[in-house]
Amino acid sequence: VIRETAASAPGKVILSGEHFVVHGSYSVAAAINRRVHVRVREFQGPKPRIVLGDQVSTISSDDGSFPVVKTVARDILSMVTKTNQDSFEISITSDIPPGSGLGSSAAVSLACAGALADFMGLTLNKNELSDMAFRGESKVHGNPSGVDVQSCLNGGLILFKKNSQTEKISLRNSFCLLVVFSGKKRSTSKLVAKVAKRREEYPNQFKRMTESVSDISLEVVEAAKGRDMRRMGSLFTLIQSQLSWIGVSTLEIDMLIEDILGANGVLGAKITGAGGGGSIIAAIDQDSGDSTLKSVSQKYPYSFISDIPQEGLRWEKPAS
Ligand code: PMV
Repeated sequence: VIRETAASAPGKVILSGEHFVVHGSYSVAAAINRRVHVRVREFQGPKPRIVLGDQVSTISSDDGSFPVVKTVARDILSMVTKTNQDSFEISITSDIPPGSGLGSSAAVSLACAGALADFMGLTLNKNELSDMAFRGESKVHGNPSGVDVQSCLNGGLILFKKNSQTEKISLRNSFCLLVVFSGKKRSTSKLVAKVAKRREEYPNQFKRMTESVSDISLEVVEAAKGRDMRRMGSLFTLIQSQLSWIGVSTLEIDMLIEDILGANGVLGAKITGAGGGGSIIAAIDQDSGDSTLKSVSQKYPYSFISDIPQEGLRWEKPAS
C-alpha cells in the first residue's frame, strides 16, 4: 500500500489593515473559497521531491524553487529520525494564483505543514503549525505580520494584531465580497520595505494613520456583524486612500478600482494585501452579486465572488 496524507487551506483577503498591521495596527481578514491542496505519498525515487504542475524539485536542492515548501519540509524533517525519511513526494494543486495577494504562500505553507506532519506521524497543535508556516512564509515575505497565516489557519473572519491572540468573529449572517485579480504579480517584501521607508520619512503622520487604521478595522468588524455593506464599502474607499498615501497603489490599480466602482451593485473597493498590482476587493449589494460579477468579468476575467468559508486548515481524505 502507498501511504498517503493530504491537507488543504483556504486563501484569504484582507478587509482592513494591510501594511499598517506590520507596524502594530488591527487588521481584519477573511478566508475565501479558493484553496491550496497538498498531498504527501511514498515515492520510489532517490530523494524526496515536490511537484506542482510540470515544476519538479527535490527538497534538498537549493535551486530557488518552492522556498516556502522547502522551509516547511526541512523543518519537519529535522523533527523526525532518519529512518522515517523514506522517499516521499509532496504534490501541490492550487486555485489561488501566486503573487496575487490572495494568500497562496500562507495557504501552501500551512497545508504542507499539516499533510507532511501527518505523514511523518507527528502531532502538531495549531500554534506549532502556524509557527512553522510563519517561518516558511518569512522566506518570501521579509517581515510578515502573521495575518495571512492566521487567516488561512482559522478560516472565517478574523481580527488580528501582532503579538495578540487572534479573534475569530462570529457572523450571524455571512456575506459575499467581489474579488478581482489585476493579473499583475508583485513582491510583498518589496512593498513592505517601501512602506517602512515611508514610515521613516513621515513618522508622525504614519503613527496617526496606524492608529486610525486600527479604529477603522474595528468599524469593519461592526459593519460585517451587521451585514452593512454600504458602511463596509465606504470604509473600503477610506482605506484605499490611506493605502494610496503610503504608496502601494499604482495607476493601473487606481484605474481598475475606478472601473469596478462603476459596475452595478458595487459599494466601495480597495486593494487587498500588499498592493503594487495583486488583487482588489469590493463590497457589493448582496442581492445583485451575479449581475455585478457578469459585468466585471467581461473586462477582468480573473474575478469571482466569495463568501466567507468557516473552515481553515483541514485534513483531507487521501485520494487512494
Ligand atoms: O502578501 P499579501 O499581499 O497577502 O500581503 C500581506 C499583508 C501585508 O500587510 C502587506 C504584509 C503582512 O505580512 O502583514
